[in-house]
Amino acid sequence: MTHPYPPEPFRIKVVESIRLISPAERESALKEAGYNLFSMKAEDMFIDLLTDSGTGAMSQEQWAAIMRGDESYAGARSFHRLKTAVEDVFGFKHFAPTHQGRAAENILAACLVKPGQWVPSNMHFDTTDANIRARGGRPANLVIDEAHDPENRHPFKGNMDIAKLKAFIAKYGREQIPLGMITVTNNAGGGQPVSMENLKAVADLYHQNGIPFFIDAARYAENCYFIKQREPGYEQKSVKEIAREMFALADGMTMSAKKDAIVNIGGLICMNDDTLFQNVQNELILREGFPTYGGLAGRDLDAMAVGLYEGLDEDYLSYRIGQTAYLAKQLNDAGIPTIQPTGGHGVYVNAGAIFPHIPNYEFPAQALAIELYREGGIRGVEIGSVMFACLDPEDNTWHYPKLELLRLAIPRRTYTQSHLDYVAESLARIKSRASQIRGYKYTYAPELLRHFTARFEPL
Ligand SMILES: Cc1ncc(COP(=O)(O)O)c(C=O)c1O
Repeated sequence: MTHPYPPEPFRIKVVESIRLISPAERESALKEAGYNLFSMKAEDMFIDLLTDSGTGAMSQEQWAAIMRGDESYAGARSFHRLKTAVEDVFGFKHFAPTHQGRAAENILAACLVKPGQWVPSNMHFDTTDANIRARGGRPANLVIDEAHDPENRHPFKGNMDIAKLKAFIAKYGREQIPLGMITVTNNAGGGQPVSMENLKAVADLYHQNGIPFFIDAARYAENCYFIKQREPGYEQKSVKEIAREMFALADGMTMSAKKDAIVNIGGLICMNDDTLFQNVQNELILREGFPTYGGLAGRDLDAMAVGLYEGLDEDYLSYRIGQTAYLAKQLNDAGIPTIQPTGGHGVYVNAGAIFPHIPNYEFPAQALAIELYREGGIRGVEIGSVMFACLDPEDNTWHYPKLELLRLAIPRRTYTQSHLDYVAESLARIKSRASQIRGYKYTYAPELLRHFTARFEPL
């Protein structure tokens, strides 16, 4: 199948300059940052594919809405405009804005999770995982086995393994499981979608056992678009109808609006239960702000109200998913392996396969991230041994992840075809001299969340 580049369903009215600094400047910027791309200046990036979170371009309608922001402390018109949009798109009884996704997760965990309790999901994103742990809880990832095989082309690789979930609930029971979750799309697993059939089976299983079901909805619109494309029976439904069907299965949701609501900051927490919502509001007041603004300015609420609809627009989604598929196709045609099938928000390059001569303890995906910056001023993010290798305290040995990946996340409505061609050409040049590239070693590595601040030196 070919993936022609989908024409952008918009034209450009405002631009932001980007500049490719010279090879010598790039080399010295790398050295100064200890070869950690998180420590570099954004202005030294030509193309920044570090994340798709909060990095999208807002539309003229969103900027116009920002001018209408009502900054009243309580009951602002902006809140009511957002409330109308949230009720229309998601259909839950209660909602509150939060400053971003992790704030919604923090509040939900504070209200529901007690020490020692378990929270299953397909795969928790790392902030969800950390917020459950911060309350003494234990996250469990029960995604289907196909998710771990980069070549497997299962159309819904984000699916929960229903047999594993059944066994998990039988083992721990309702008392030990205060809520069950699912992440759509599954970011930690490559932006892979979950099918409606699977969502229904998960909802049934949670509900048969009296377990409240919450969806991590950061990329729900992309997930619903994949359902329309790939799941029999959904071809004729609108993405919005599919979304309503999906959320009708759940008791609530958390969302980072920085993804599919195409805003630079913001989040949501929604639910149907009255008592839980009362507790959520109390937590919200303590940590975020009054429940009608939740840590955001009125103008942010207005931008989100508009962005929620723009994120569901099917011309936009066709372009968005098509753009990601296009980049993957350019790379695959150049012999660069990526996780299959291509997910929604980014392309995951198999760095381990490009650098088979670099062992995992010399960080092949970090080497590729550095080389891509060196080659083209492009920033991706390592998802491999720097991020995930851990020292087992019991046997004092290092455990390494199965895959060494470089994620190229695509900001929404931000880069064009020529930018993506440039990324693919840069990677192809690296591949042609792959055998000359060496690994890295740490000169500093903190114990937790190492990838953000570690420093390296070339071997
Ligand atoms: C699936 C998922 N859930 C939650 C979050 C956390 O959202 P935020 O960064 O807005 O706190 C993210 C962010 O990347 C995510 O991808």
